[in-house]
Amino acid sequence: MNENTIKIRLMKTDDFDAVVGIDEKVLKVSRPEYYEMKFERLFKSREYLPTSLVAEAKDGTVVGFVMGELYMGEFGIFQEQATLDTIGVDPYCQLKGIGAQLISEFMAHLRSLGVKKVNTLVDTKDSKLTHFFSANQFSPSKTINLERNL
Ligand SMILES: CC(C)(COP(=O)(O)OP(=O)(O)OC[C@H]1O[C@@H](n2cnc3c(N)ncnc32)[C@H](O)[C@@H]1OP(=O)(O)O)[C@@H](O)C(=O)NCCC(=O)NCCS
Repeated sequence: MNENTIKIRLMKTDDFDAVVGIDEKVLKVSRPEYYEMKFERLFKSREYLPTSLVAEAKDGTVVGFVMGELYMGEFGIFQEQATLDTIGVDPYCQLKGIGAQLISEFMAHLRSLGVKKVNTLVDTKDSKLTHFFSANQFSPSKTINLERNL
């Protein structure tokens, strides 16, 4: 399998099981509730524009996905910033450029909608993921993510 045999398309509601399955394989935990919330926002709320994509193999199998949000609000006011919050590629298909292809199409799609900046959060200890985003032209932002334990 290489990037020429992979098609990137907009995510559909039918992709739910495939997305949850890939996420479970990469994170080793199942998070259907998280994706139920994400899919609800993506497909039922009018306040978010659809931006999420999947990578599909020639036989129709979904082998990767990227999810993000472009918030419009109830008054439909366009925002120039969007988020990329989850990306996953089936471990069997990793290191073949599919992640890079997903990011590239995700950016092109958002650019065509008028978005100027995409933010994402990465654990600084996750050197592989930091390397992946850096190789895909993400750089540290000028804001710091602060937190306080309760
Ligand atoms: C990050 C991820 C999407 C990259 O997908 P991919 O199709 O393997 O990406 P590409 O083939 O385009 O790029 C591979 C690069 O990513 C790096 N990489 C990042 N995470 C990696 C991982 N978990 N395993 C292997 N390589 C990883 C590799 O070092 C490689 O760099 P190189 O090309 O310089 O060797 C994929 O590894 C993955 O699903 N990881 C686990 C899920 C995850 O942590 N998601 C983030 C939560 S938002």
